[in-house]
This record gives sequence, structure tokens and C-alpha cells, in this order.
Amino acid sequence: MSSNAPITIAAPKGRTLKALVPRLRRAGIDPAPLLADDRTLIRMADGGQLRFLLLKPDDVPTYVEYGAADLGICGRDVLVERAYDLYQPLDLGIGICRMVVAGAVGVKASTDVPRVATKYPRTAAAHFARKGVQAEIIYVGGSVELAPLTGLAELIVDLVETGETLVQNGLEVREEVSKISTVVVANRACYKLRRERIVALLDRLRDPVS
Ligand code: PRP
Repeated sequence: MSSNAPITIAAPKGRTLKALVPRLRRAGIDPAPLLADDRTLIRMADGGQLRFLLLKPDDVPTYVEYGAADLGICGRDVLVERAYDLYQPLDLGIGICRMVVAGAVGVKASTDVPRVATKYPRTAAAHFARKGVQAEIIYVGGSVELAPLTGLAELIVDLVETGETLVQNGLEVREEVSKISTVVVANRACYKLRRERIVALLDRLRDPVS
């Protein structure tokens, strides 16, 4: 690959992309191509220097690990759920939230082995194993808060940002599993080969208060 080729960044569609917009502006990168309301999945930015791939959040590390992207923007929740061989050169300090165990307000555990619904089965299993608590982990793909309301599970392990989804569904935090933020991940080989340009970009994207 020519050293002038654009730096390819795997970026998650949705909430994280929106949270990234002020940081891009601050870095002097016009976010308009990323926000354009069309179906193209590759968006050029920064005068053709950057090439963004718009992906489902869970797919970001895969594209970076295989070198289809040099860099990726990704929540720690995704990284801890599976083992990836990636370099993590920068915590962006955005997308701050918590991974928690939650259950219905005022409802105490009724079984010795609670059923736990989650999009993060490995993270949840590791959490309960660390505590020495046996739990039955049930994978669900979204709207996890429904599980305790319908009898699918007593508990959930999920992300909480404002806490509004829990409140509106009559749920409460029982324990914190971990703190989550959005990080930049890098393909190890790409980082070495294109180090100067990548480091310069990361400096532009760095949290101004860190
Ligand atoms: C996430 C998470 C919670 C919600 C928490 O879901 O899984 O449901 O956001 O945010 P809050 O504390 O600010 O209310 P997301 O919106 O990504 O949708 P999903 O349920 O389809 O995963």
C-alpha cells in the first residue's frame, strides 16, 4: 500500500458515531460525509486523507484485526466480550457508560442459580464466575431490559449510560461489572508501517482534557 493511501477507520454506526462528531470537528475534520443520510458504507473525509467504513459496532474489531481497516473506533464492551489481537493506542474519553447487573425494582432473587439475559454472554459469565456465583446466561440481541419484565430472566447484564432505560422499565442497578469508554484500536502491522501518520491523527483526536 502506498504511504499516501488514506488511513482506513472502521467506525460504528449509531450512538458512538454521533458522540465522535464533536471530537472530529475539534480535530479539524469535517464530519459531514459521515453524517450524510445515504446508504454508502465507505465515506471519505479530511480531503481524502481518511476513509471511514461504517459498520455494526460488534464488527469493528474484526475489520481492524484482519487489516481491512488500519484503525477502529470501538467501545470497551465489544473488546472485552471477545479476545482480539489489537493495539489500543488511545482512549477517546467519549461514550462513557457502565456495564452493570440489573434486575426489577424490589424483586429479590428467587432461585439459587439466577437466569441472566445479556448481549454480552462471556462478560456476564466471567463476572459471575469471579464472584463464585453460578448463573445461567441467556443470549439476547437487544432490548435486554425486557427479559426481567417477561420472566425470561431475573437479571440482565447490560450497558447503562443515562439510566433512563432502566428507570422507564422498572429496573435498578444491582452491581457494576466494569466502566466502559470508547477507544481507538489499531491493527498491529498497520500501526508500525504507518506510524507517523497514525500518531499524528491520534494526537488530533486526543481528549483535550486528558
Ligand atoms: C443501550 C443499552 C441500554 C441502553 C442504555 O441500548 O443496551 O438498553 O442503551 O442507555 P441509557 O442508560 O442511556 O438509557 P441501545 O440503545 O444501544 O439499543 P439495544 O437495546 O438495541 O442494544
